[in-house]
Amino acid sequence: MSLRCSQTIPAVVLLILALVGILLLVLPAKEVKTPPENMYGIILDAGSSHTSMYIYKWPADKQNGTGIVTEHSKCHAKGGGISSYAGVRGGAAESLKACLEQAVKDIPKSRHHQTPLYLGATAGMRLLKKDNATESDRILKEVGSKLQSYPFKFKEAVILSGQQEGAYGWVTVNYLHENFAKYGFIGRWLNPGTETTGALDLGGASTQITFETPEKVEDSDNMMELRLYGQNYRLYTQSFLCYGQDQFLIKLMAHLITTQGVKPRVYHPCYPKRFNTSIKLGKDVFDSPCMENYRPPRFDPQMSVTVIGTGDYQNCLANIEKMFSFDSCSFSKCSFDGVSQPSVRGSFMAFSAFFFTHRYISSLSNITISSPRHMEAAIRHVCNMTISEMTKKTNQSEKYMKNVCAVSNFIQVLLMRGYGFNEFSLPSISFQEKVGGTSVGWALGYMLSLSNMVPAESFGLMKALPSGPWAGILFLFITLLLIAVGYLLIIYRNTRTGGGMV
Ligand SMILES: *[C@@H]1O[C@H](CO)[C@@H](O)[C@H](O)[C@H]1NC(C)=O
Ligand SMILES: *[C@@H]1O[C@H](CO)[C@@H](O)[C@H](O)[C@H]1NC(C)=O
Ligand SMILES: *[C@@H]1O[C@H](CO)[C@@H](O)[C@H](O)[C@H]1NC(C)=O
Repeated sequence: MSLRCSQTIPAVVLLILALVGILLLVLPAKEVKTPPENMYGIILDAGSSHTSMYIYKWPADKQNGTGIVTEHSKCHAKGGGISSYAGVRGGAAESLKACLEQAVKDIPKSRHHQTPLYLGATAGMRLLKKDNATESDRILKEVGSKLQSYPFKFKEAVILSGQQEGAYGWVTVNYLHENFAKYGFIGRWLNPGTETTGALDLGGASTQITFETPEKVEDSDNMMELRLYGQNYRLYTQSFLCYGQDQFLIKLMAHLITTQGVKPRVYHPCYPKRFNTSIKLGKDVFDSPCMENYRPPRFDPQMSVTVIGTGDYQNCLANIEKMFSFDSCSFSKCSFDGVSQPSVRGSFMAFSAFFFTHRYISSLSNITISSPRHMEAAIRHVCNMTISEMTKKTNQSEKYMKNVCAVSNFIQVLLMRGYGFNEFSLPSISFQEKVGGTSVGWALGYMLSLSNMVPAESFGLMKALPSGPWAGILFLFITLLLIAVGYLLIIYRNTRTGGGMV
């Protein structure tokens, strides 16, 4: 009896040792540790129509990798975008105050001084800079010194280029989809080998399209090369200034006024039938910075015009198509307005105003938009609705609902005739606002890129053993396990047959 025990104990110890060794190697390291403290980062997205603040968080002990940074909270600043405070000293800085005070409360005090703070301004400030660079510089300085007065680590307040805005949006989409790298087995970065997802962004003053392409990018302005997690990505990116939804709507109004002649009444085919509203020629239309091709030589900015809706789908579409130029192209292929574009390929994600408009037309028409035919039917349905039917069904104000027919027709022309989506590629666009609770936009990609959180050169180098030694140790433990089991089996058989070994 004692002999059997003395033989069994070392074998059982060996067995347990081997099992523990294998488990330690195979279980992902992050699940074994206690949850670490968070780190934070703040981005102010200074858009043309308003400013949004996003606070991101990630575990303090890791920052490289996808799916680790998530949205902690956000805030929409009241009032217009910072560019709307041109000529108003102190206005832009003041508009950010409420959100920054929220950030002071949302982020634990001990982390304040480590929290990077960035402000990126987009098309609204790009337009102001074209108009009056002194004034756009003054506003950036003003908001910069405001941001500096908070306890965070202020980094920069800048105007992003259209290419940066497009590329950062693309980084956000693919980071959230974990298309770059996956945190796998024992904390090593694996290339999931998935295709990347293109990004479609529609803001107030500009719209962006960005996707990976194997085709030659004919205009170097549209070319962006990124190296992330040791992989190279060749992107096509284009930002169309004055094709954001707000500026497009103003251009449409100007187009209708100039084609019908400057009169006290103008008929709007995209406004709901019998809906009417009054506008001033100056502040509501021709003072906009996107009016180069539309501003009449002489007009009275104080003149009031009544805009009367006719709710006419066909006429609305025809007018909107006229506002894109599809004729001249000095490259082998163009989207519109003479801009080169390779064929769209792969899946896409459409966010910001694309998402909201898609949601409005789906819910107003009860049509699931899965083909160009469905899209047309849904928009036709919406353009035939009265303003009160629309406000009742969506619980949204007239301010938004009066424009749904125009914006959805604009999106239809932009996607189909402009970018060249067709019945096969349109279903590959997913219209989404968030991925797993994090808002999709350029803000997250901007923070990840500027804080080096998407490493340019890092494949397989992080934190863990390279695969050779790791596999070797695993093999050793498995051999140990097999020896222990074998040994135990031999002891068991010998006692069963009654024969003593010794
Ligand atoms: C630009 O803005 C400044 C105020 O910062 C103003 O004094 C100046 O007249 C403006 N220039 C133009 C060309 O509008
Ligand atoms: C505009 O709408 C109001 C009611 O909303 C109506 O009383 C008025 O007659 C309309 N004006 C025109 C020019 O259609
Ligand atoms: C993340 O990657 C960058 C670049 O590879 C490196 O400098 C940095 O130390 C890494 N950070 C962490 C927390 O591993």
